[in-house]
Amino acid sequence: MSIAIIGGTGLTDLEGLEITHRQMLHTPYGETSSPIIHGKYCGKKVIFLARHGSQHTIPPHKINYRANIWSLKEVGVKNVIAIAAVGGIHPDMRSKDLVIPHQLIDYTASRDHTFFDDDSHPVTHIDFTHPYCDNLRQQLLMAAQQIECTVHNHGVYGATQGPRLETAAEINRMEQDGCDVVGMTGMPEAALARELSLCYATCALVVNPAAGRGAAEITMSDIEANIKDSIVYVRHLLAQVICEY
Ligand code: HPA
Repeated sequence: MSIAIIGGTGLTDLEGLEITHRQMLHTPYGETSSPIIHGKYCGKKVIFLARHGSQHTIPPHKINYRANIWSLKEVGVKNVIAIAAVGGIHPDMRSKDLVIPHQLIDYTASRDHTFFDDDSHPVTHIDFTHPYCDNLRQQLLMAAQQIECTVHNHGVYGATQGPRLETAAEINRMEQDGCDVVGMTGMPEAALARELSLCYATCALVVNPAAGRGAAEITMSDIEANIKDSIVYVRHLLAQVICEY
């Protein structure tokens, strides 16, 4: 039973993965963001997929989420750890913290968001009450105890359309809705994983205060500097969780 890591911004490879082969799958939904990378990590079978492409060129609204998730299912993956960069809305969710969200709210629009949209299937409504797989969340949280950084054991992820960042008023509204962090890639990825019965959990890295929450303008260079400083925590967490898995 293999585990897959979907790498987000700042994680286009999995350091320490002994790559056995790369596979480009042609799916009924088109091409995946990048080749499916098969390898061994801690002697365990691990698959890696770079969500934004190997060169980080695919923006959140153009990612072929269906092809990515379908491919992981096709190659036999059961568990998916999704890495995501987010902005912090709740004052406790500070830059360079990790968050293992327990809930999400979807604000995305016009993305291909389901596998169940043709007439060949009976009408299907998946249960999505708890969008993240609790088993995998617990494993991430146990592994997080070994990591020297602040890890929040719950949080509500608000998924926005992008690629622009939000307005301050949008963030205020999201806060009133109950969102703790904001990102652009959490949906439809999580729902598609559930539609294919994959166990899916997210490890979010806070890379900036959300719009209107910080003293300064949000710049790509500040985001990149925060990622550069803290992606090591994500790498450590993945090492722990995969080796103990
Ligand atoms: N908003 C949306 N997505 C993001 C942000 C943000 O502030 N930071 C990183 N991804």
